[in-house]
Amino acid sequence: MTEPLLEMNNIWVKFTPSKRPEVVAVEDASISVRENEFVSLIGPSGCGKSTLLRAAAGLEIPSSGEITVDGQPVDGPGADRGMVFQAYTLFPWLTVSENIRFALKKTSLTSAEKDDRVREYIRLIGLEGFENSYPNQLSGGMRQRVAIARALVYRPKILLMDEPFGALDAQTRLLMQELLLQVWENHRSTVLFVTHDVEEAILLSDRILVMTALPGKIKAEIMIDLPRPRSIIEMETSSQFAAYKKQLLELVREEARKSFSRIPDKREA
Ligand SMILES: Nc1ncnc2c1ncn2[C@@H]1O[C@H](COP(=O)(O)OP(=O)(O)OP(=O)(O)O)[C@@H](O)[C@H]1O
Ligand SMILES: [Mg+2]
Repeated sequence: MTEPLLEMNNIWVKFTPSKRPEVVAVEDASISVRENEFVSLIGPSGCGKSTLLRAAAGLEIPSSGEITVDGQPVDGPGADRGMVFQAYTLFPWLTVSENIRFALKKTSLTSAEKDDRVREYIRLIGLEGFENSYPNQLSGGMRQRVAIARALVYRPKILLMDEPFGALDAQTRLLMQELLLQVWENHRSTVLFVTHDVEEAILLSDRILVMTALPGKIKAEIMIDLPRPRSIIEMETSSQFAAYKKQLLELVREEARKSFSRIPDKREA
């Protein structure tokens, strides 16, 4: 068993919007992600998933609790953590190559090494031929592939992904899930992944953490003991996959219902 790479201990995040009551977004959540592990965080909308991920990224300072990456305390954003958000966050004035190369700015690689690395990742995401295109000349899925390459190219210790495929159509989403699966299975980076899509979480993860409705706590931890390499087609027909899906849907639905407590459950009526 490898050492935890990311440790979040007893994290509380409170927001105090002006003239409105305090919101406790995350309540006493503890997470640890080991090196080379793919962990997903799922839970109902508004339960604090993004807040927790932003705290790991150093973009949100917890009200209490401690966060370390490789034993070093996190007190702000850092190059040891790569971030991919739901919205495409490319620089519109830079080409595909330039966007990816930008992430290597602070590394000690030589210019030739940077060129090689950029080429390697463009190949990996299947965008050869689009090196000199600008983001507005690409589809949503292509842009998100560039965002993923940009987060991977400098080989951060951990990748933090917040619903990176949330804005894509179902077909592109499947392709992107397969791509991430492939890249991860070949390169074995460490990932903390936020999604509300239960199937996506099972397909990709070694372990899934289920959060409660607001204030978000970690409610359950499910180990996904499915063989790798995995494929979407195989998963669709696997009875083990179906069993995980049922178990997780029940856990999430129970929480979602709490956040919509005025909607009566038909089965209970
Ligand atoms: N900057 C902020 N100021 C005040 N409240 C905030 C702020 N950011 C988040 N919140 C509140 O914290 C709670 C958790 O938000 P968060 O974005 O982490 O949820 P989420 O689980 O990512 O939801 P979704 O699945 O819809 O993305 C919400 O109630 C939200 O309104
Ligand atoms: Mg969110």
